[in-house]
Amino acid sequence: MKRILFVDDEPMILAGLRRLLRPQRERWDMSFAGSGAEALALLESKPFDAVVTDMRMPAMDGAKLLELVRERYPATIRIVLSGYFESDAAMRAVPVAHQFLAKPCDPEKLHEAIERSCGFAGMLPDAALRRIVGAVGRLPTLPRTTALLTEALEKPDVPLSEIGRIVEHDVGITAKLLQLVNSAFFCLPYHVTSVRRAVSCLGLDTLKHLVLSVELFHTLQPRYPIAGFSMESFEEHSHLAARIAARLPGPEPVVSAGVVASVLHDAGKLVLASRLPEEFERALEESRARQLPLHIVEQERMGTTHAEIGAYLLGLWGLSGALVDAVSRHHRPVASPADGAGLSVLAIAHIADGLAWEAPLVKAGEPASAWTDLLDHAYLGGIGAEAELPGWRAMAQQVVETRGE
Ligand SMILES: [Fe+2]
Ligand SMILES: [Fe+2]
Repeated sequence: MKRILFVDDEPMILAGLRRLLRPQRERWDMSFAGSGAEALALLESKPFDAVVTDMRMPAMDGAKLLELVRERYPATIRIVLSGYFESDAAMRAVPVAHQFLAKPCDPEKLHEAIERSCGFAGMLPDAALRRIVGAVGRLPTLPRTTALLTEALEKPDVPLSEIGRIVEHDVGITAKLLQLVNSAFFCLPYHVTSVRRAVSCLGLDTLKHLVLSVELFHTLQPRYPIAGFSMESFEEHSHLAARIAARLPGPEPVVSAGVVASVLHDAGKLVLASRLPEEFERALEESRARQLPLHIVEQERMGTTHAEIGAYLLGLWGLSGALVDAVSRHHRPVASPADGAGLSVLAIAHIADGLAWEAPLVKAGEPASAWTDLLDHAYLGGIGAEAELPGWRAMAQQVVETRGE
């Protein structure tokens, strides 16, 4: 049973939440507090999985409350439920909240958001993952521009100009974003020169995830050099995977999600590189020495892998289930009955990652071996993709050859 604490200074709103969420009583143990002080007293009396708070409250506002929650109970999920007209206040919560929801929130959406965040915290029964996330310390919050975008996208009919303003506020992000959009990930027939144009080509969702990848790569930089790891080669691999993903067959929305999953698939490596550098360095070294894939060595040494760690973080931030699932299983894919005909987001992420690893090695003259081949051939056979592989390998070679064009 998950313990959720709702905080709002308006008794009407608390009563409304209590009523709306009554059907969840079987699964959630819910508490309701009318102020920050009352919330802190409850938190002291028993542990909670998540705190969902209003922003604007007298005495202690939501941002202050979540700051204290972060300090005292770092494993508790922190969610802001704010009104449309509280943007300024919500901005203050950006560094401390994992997720933002807009009031009035329909119960379905609220339920889904809480379940999703806690579900990933619930992934922590895995003692190894719990230890890693514990060592990471505070669960990293959603990077700033992504958080502002997420908040803006909660509003109905948000004008494109506002989206443009949020992203363009950060010149570095804008430059990097436009570079990604134009880097042949999406096979666009023309050059995109503004955020607004990028949104209309790719859609808000894809744009948001690209911004997230830019910010993520930036905020999780390793603090000192790690043997066998560099940000340049990390980004190169992620981007190569994305370019390969863009050329795999499928309906546009699935391929776009596959491209995004490919950009983000190794996010867990950044968590390890920036927060557990020594452990990560030793795993890399052993992987090279034994010519064994990194995820296998990580599993042996830490009991979990960068795939689950990355998925955990993205799930906490409320990314869609298909995306989180693709990141989580990119080395160990499983076919799901929900898969329709054609490649799923997970299949695209798995194939693109395998080919992006293999193609540069083949180009460098490395003979094919268990070291160069990360693909799960039983899985590919099961989804009927094995026969396509030679063609995709040739395509990946071509993408490597045309790097930088
Ligand atoms: Fe990986
Ligand atoms: Fe990878």
